[in-house]
Amino acid sequence: MSTAEPILLTPGPLTTSSRTRQAMMVDWGSWDDRFNQLTASLCEQLLAIINGADSHHCVPLQGSGTFAVEAAIGTLVPRDGKVLVLINGAYGKRLAKICEVLGRSFSTFETAEDEPTTAADVDRLLRADASITHVALIHCETSTGILNPLADIAHVIEQHGKRLIIDAMSSFGALPIDAQDVPFDALIAASGKCLEGVPGMGFVFARKEALASAAGNSHSLAMDLFDQHTYMAKTGQWRFTPPTHVVAALHEALLQYNEEGGLPARHQRYANNCQVLLEDMARLGLRSFLPAAIQAPIIVTFHAPKDPRYQFKEFYERVKAKGFILYPGKLTQVETFRVGCIGHVNQAEMHAAVAAVAEVLREMEVIDI
Ligand SMILES: Cc1ncc(COP(=O)(O)O)c(C=O)c1O
Repeated sequence: MSTAEPILLTPGPLTTSSRTRQAMMVDWGSWDDRFNQLTASLCEQLLAIINGADSHHCVPLQGSGTFAVEAAIGTLVPRDGKVLVLINGAYGKRLAKICEVLGRSFSTFETAEDEPTTAADVDRLLRADASITHVALIHCETSTGILNPLADIAHVIEQHGKRLIIDAMSSFGALPIDAQDVPFDALIAASGKCLEGVPGMGFVFARKEALASAAGNSHSLAMDLFDQHTYMAKTGQWRFTPPTHVVAALHEALLQYNEEGGLPARHQRYANNCQVLLEDMARLGLRSFLPAAIQAPIIVTFHAPKDPRYQFKEFYERVKAKGFILYPGKLTQVETFRVGCIGHVNQAEMHAAVAAVAEVLREMEVIDI
């Protein structure tokens, strides 16, 4: 049994660097200039990642990722708007649930969990229903790790004169998205994902004109991104108590992101992690659920062994005792488990994690894989 804290191979919260954790050892005054400067610098650096300083505002929001997704839909979709929700997993279903709870009119288009939505699908759907005003898409559907073809879909939506809202929670910072090439009204992500901060805040890149015309849309005071942005632009402060330590940790994580080489380097490290994981697991006979062409280097879903001696709970506990935290599967039809490629980990940790999986399967006498 390892005495160190286990390594999280999960899609966030994830393993952070000690430098990032250390940045939380300071208490910040939320009205203090130094903290306001930290927030401003954070937003500026986040906008730079998508090349969005000229076209978009970065609006940070307290809470988990879902809070930011709900705030984006509630703020940017007018009350008489209609959202086409593209679904191929649990987070797509959550987008539809948000529309339902907010009372926004919506329709859904669902493909299988191993089938990306295509631009042709979206083109057909938009031709068929002129009342749609917005399309909501998950970039990397974390429930499997599938990647949807964002740029192609975004261009079709633009050709139809409709608006795009992107949940890029698990892809932002690792997979390239350029706001000058990919037209969107909102792109949503959070602190504790590929930027390797800690969880506690989300942020929405909102197209400047779209945000400027969004006054009064929101169903909620606390989740109103128009208000949040207007107040922050005027005062430099968050409207309500900010997650100060989370902001400081994310700021420190961004310094390391840039030192590492920014997005290309982050992408490469995760792609290497993913490749090591897939190759080493394949040697054990463990097959990934998705074909390589649609697998994002973020999280991999593996088919669980068929052997009745395999039980996820025991497998999980035994792998944890060897120093690695895995993630349960999220599919309803097939039994799976997931392993994240993101966080402050590299190929050495991925090799070690699969070695731990191999030992555990031997201990459990699982042979039918
Ligand atoms: C694609 C996607 N959307 C949204 C979320 C937001 O989830 P939460 O509110 O748990 O941070 C996640 C979290 O992993 C995600 O992967």
